[in-house]
Amino acid sequence: MYVAHLHLTDFRSYPHAELELEPGITALVGPNGQGKTNLVEAIGYVATLSSHRVPTDAALIRAGCQRAVVGAKVVRELEPGRPRASVVEVEITAGKANRARVNGGSPVRARDVLGLLHTVLFAPEDLALVKGDPDGRRRFLDALLVQLTPRMASTVSDYERVLRQRSALLKSAGAASRARQGADLRTLDVWDGKLAQLGARLVVERRALVRALSPHVEAAYEQVSAGQGDARITYRASLEGALQDAPDGLMADDEAGVDLVEAQLLEAMGRLRPKEIERGVCLVGPHRDDLVLTLADLPAKGYASHGESWSFALALRLASWRVLAAGGPQGDPDDEPVLILDDVFAELDARRRERLAELVAPARQVLITAAVAADVPEPLAGARVDVMGGEVSRVL
Ligand SMILES: Nc1ncnc2c1ncn2[C@@H]1O[C@H](COP(=O)(O)OP(=O)(O)OP(=O)(O)O)[C@@H](O)[C@H]1O
Ligand SMILES: [Mg+2]
Repeated sequence: MYVAHLHLTDFRSYPHAELELEPGITALVGPNGQGKTNLVEAIGYVATLSSHRVPTDAALIRAGCQRAVVGAKVVRELEPGRPRASVVEVEITAGKANRARVNGGSPVRARDVLGLLHTVLFAPEDLALVKGDPDGRRRFLDALLVQLTPRMASTVSDYERVLRQRSALLKSAGAASRARQGADLRTLDVWDGKLAQLGARLVVERRALVRALSPHVEAAYEQVSAGQGDARITYRASLEGALQDAPDGLMADDEAGVDLVEAQLLEAMGRLRPKEIERGVCLVGPHRDDLVLTLADLPAKGYASHGESWSFALALRLASWRVLAAGGPQGDPDDEPVLILDDVFAELDARRRERLAELVAPARQVLITAAVAADVPEPLAGARVDVMGGEVSRVL
């Protein structure tokens, strides 16, 4: 698939912007702070309903405005020679639920347009995937799950809601027991059940995803680093015991696997309850899990060099791109996501730059941002768009 047109209203620095795009490679070039990343961030937002730079939407709305609109015309060619375009528009409103529209139709929940556009965005912020806390890696996995299987969006958000509610309940139970009053443990049982049910689904789906990503991460790291190092990823569950007992090759849609993990989560919560009440936190579940990254058997975090960490983050994104291109469970032939490389070439040495360029050149659509045109490697010379002072102009 590819994005043929992007329009913005009051998004970031843009009161209004229009950008025509073609399949193949496009470089967005302009000095710092001119609005290049804002454009690719907008495209990523239509695909994922989140920004790669900020956890909440407020900063996406132009200062002083109430709402922003991002629209993308997405072209897919599920049958050869028969491209089909759809226009996906998302309205971002401060402090309110976002709405979306497809082909100018009536407004729907923003979540309902997930899956219409697939993007994989690699940006300097991704260094945190390797160097940062587990939280960022869990978000990476969940965001990819949602792109692959949009119905997972509700599992992820319901899990977060249940987790918050159960944690609040644990805290008040802790306070009650310290005050020597009886706590309402029956309500807690209900939340245990919900947490286990949603959590089991999430753990099983994440593990299946890590299995799918793993060979691609190894291959992509090797390709980017020219055969140096041995990058591996594994999923570490806070509930290790349950997963060791799980049948090997457990599939995401394996209900028996989900039931097994659910039962074990419940059992663990029962066992840990006094401790959980004492500390006021939920001690097991996917919110305590991690995606462990190793390089030549050493943890990447704390051991890998800056360039190695960068290459590892890149390998995670390239692997995501390949897993999405394979179409996930649906396996559509034209599910190849739009690949976005925000400011990545300036960080790589000449050799890695060249390798990356070769890897991405054949992609259906690649959008690159760079402060100077010279940062874009030769094999990626394609269309060029100049971005300057909020003006976006194609260089013919
Ligand atoms: N909500 C907002 N309202 C108004 N302006 C904003 C908003 N958010 C960001 N900006 C402005 O957008 C500009 C940054 O744009 P962007 O990050 O796209 O730059 P860039 O061209 O990618 O620069 P660099 O080369 O440094 O990465 C900044 O000047 C910033 O002040
Ligand atoms: Mg930028």
